[in-house]
Amino acid sequence: MTRFLMLRRSVSISASVHSSASIPVFTTIKDYRLWRNEAFESKKSVGFVPTMGALHDGHLSLVKRSLSENDLTVVSIFVNPSQFAPHEDLATYPRTLPQDLILLSALEYQPANPPNAPRTPSAVFLPSVKDMYPSGISQDVSQQKGTFVEVKGYGEQMEGLSRPTFFRGVATIVTKLFNIIQPTNAYFGQKDIQQALLLRRLVGDLHFSHPTHDNLHIIPTARNAANGLALSSRNIYLTPCERRLAPTLYAALQDAGQVWAAGASKQEAVRRALDRLGAAKDEGAKDGIEIRVDYVEMNDPDTFEVLGDGQVQRSDGAPVILSGAAWFGRTRLIDNVILGNLEGIVAK
Ligand code: PAF
Repeated sequence: MTRFLMLRRSVSISASVHSSASIPVFTTIKDYRLWRNEAFESKKSVGFVPTMGALHDGHLSLVKRSLSENDLTVVSIFVNPSQFAPHEDLATYPRTLPQDLILLSALEYQPANPPNAPRTPSAVFLPSVKDMYPSGISQDVSQQKGTFVEVKGYGEQMEGLSRPTFFRGVATIVTKLFNIIQPTNAYFGQKDIQQALLLRRLVGDLHFSHPTHDNLHIIPTARNAANGLALSSRNIYLTPCERRLAPTLYAALQDAGQVWAAGASKQEAVRRALDRLGAAKDEGAKDGIEIRVDYVEMNDPDTFEVLGDGQVQRSDGAPVILSGAAWFGRTRLIDNVILGNLEGIVAK
């Protein structure tokens, strides 16, 4: 890492630049805040994409959206311990910082109406665990000390059933990040739909101004163009054989959505998805791969409650989340499709 100073007026802001990439990296909250104050003073909008690194095209699509809608764009990279349960993959979660910085440095957005200069990501925020958790952080909730954020009543369904401490960890770290980054707009992927909707509720409930509820944007899931597999940092865990079968999750949800749209009951639609996954399970078993379905469900996007057959209306176009989670070997994948009217949920 080489050190450089960005000097403007009387303020000197220190960021570092990785040797193989040209993007400034802030590793302290103090330095980032000096930079952010300048952006406030010059009335520049700041778009924010929080990540845990191991960037792929899904993250890059969020960054591109931010570049197109904001004067400045900040990406955070922080593998957040509190959202991993003790038995989960914190230790092995992919960490690919040099490659992440190269990918970000290569992005450019040319605003319409030249002579506007092309926009590139403005900064990466790369905090330490110590700065984010001054009291330390245990993955065991009963041992944790300090301040945590819980969105009661919305983190126990869907993903929260299988990962009971996940949303507490996410809500806590994203609250901290929003307080530091002070974004005008923030961008999340639809793949983690419950996370994104829960965070939208959090910023509304706590009356955040940066970002506001309406400025937390959910961007459609980026997929492998050939087979529809949702892009995820955890896809790198998949063996070639698992990777071949993993797109079945999305295919199963699509099948369910189609039969439901054609008039099948909710139960029938879910059964269709489970049958498709069952066929993949049989195929995987021949190669010694275990596929285990965690859930396939239809939930209300406001309450996350499971929808009963009678509650799922096709006619009024009210949106429904059809989502699923399944293990392909040792890798747990999630995906979703939204049925009905997307307006107000996912950005176009
Ligand atoms: O979606 C993720 O990558 C993480 O949950 C997030 C939002 C960066 C918080 O750690």
